[in-house]
Amino acid sequence: MNTQFTGQHLIHLECIESTNNYAAKLIQLPNWYNGTVIVADIQTKGRGQQSTNWISQPGNLHCSYLFDLSFLKTQFSWIWSAAVAIAVQRTISNITPQLNPKIKWPNDILADKRKVAGILIENSVSQRQIESSIVGIGINVAYAPEDVNACSMQLPPNQVNTILYQLSKQLEEVYFILKSGDHQYLLRAYHNELWKYGQKTTIVINGVTIDTMFLGISEDGRAKFLTEQNELLLGIKEFQWKELGS
Ligand code: BTN
Repeated sequence: MNTQFTGQHLIHLECIESTNNYAAKLIQLPNWYNGTVIVADIQTKGRGQQSTNWISQPGNLHCSYLFDLSFLKTQFSWIWSAAVAIAVQRTISNITPQLNPKIKWPNDILADKRKVAGILIENSVSQRQIESSIVGIGINVAYAPEDVNACSMQLPPNQVNTILYQLSKQLEEVYFILKSGDHQYLLRAYHNELWKYGQKTTIVINGVTIDTMFLGISEDGRAKFLTEQNELLLGIKEFQWKELGS
């Protein structure tokens, strides 16, 4: 692995409930290596955001990284989430530029309005400081699960390791930038690849359709929209994108 520490300690499992659950146990040990990655060929209970399931098929990438984030205050956890989204988007874009992947706020990766990768970050927090972060990433390398609005990178299943190496490199890069405190760089990079940024878009709030302009991420990590009347700052459960139905 061509990195300083990320992915250097690699645990490969054929089958596990969820790599995030495995990582949660590992992180309780007195010693673990920063940048450890757990990769599973199959997950029997892969978890997605907001208590959804993540369908896991061999040939796709399912992994969880452990990171020491003891330098980061909890108020900036959303910048870490943005940084991880940049790393995943860059990984997919470098290998399959024709997909033109974009970040859907806050951290889904879309290709042509369909989800190609998802991220589930679980941080351990003490006082107002983050201690450690489990970064679960699922990338549809070879297969798109049916019945959901998903797509794949359309690569052969044996490309999973290539993606993992790229991903480790990209994650390490944004980790170092975050550690250096250059939040502005990360926010610029995030907005550069943000789906619908600066565009007109229709959102749905409590069943009501509203025409807006998407202004990107606010200073506290919420989504910012401009309507004819005012500016709206919305959290993840507070609106849906009409175009996607989610
Ligand atoms: C989402 O809903 O978009 C997040 C999906 C995250 C899936 C990955 S697969 C590897 C890791 N282990 C899990 O159980 N979930 C994450």
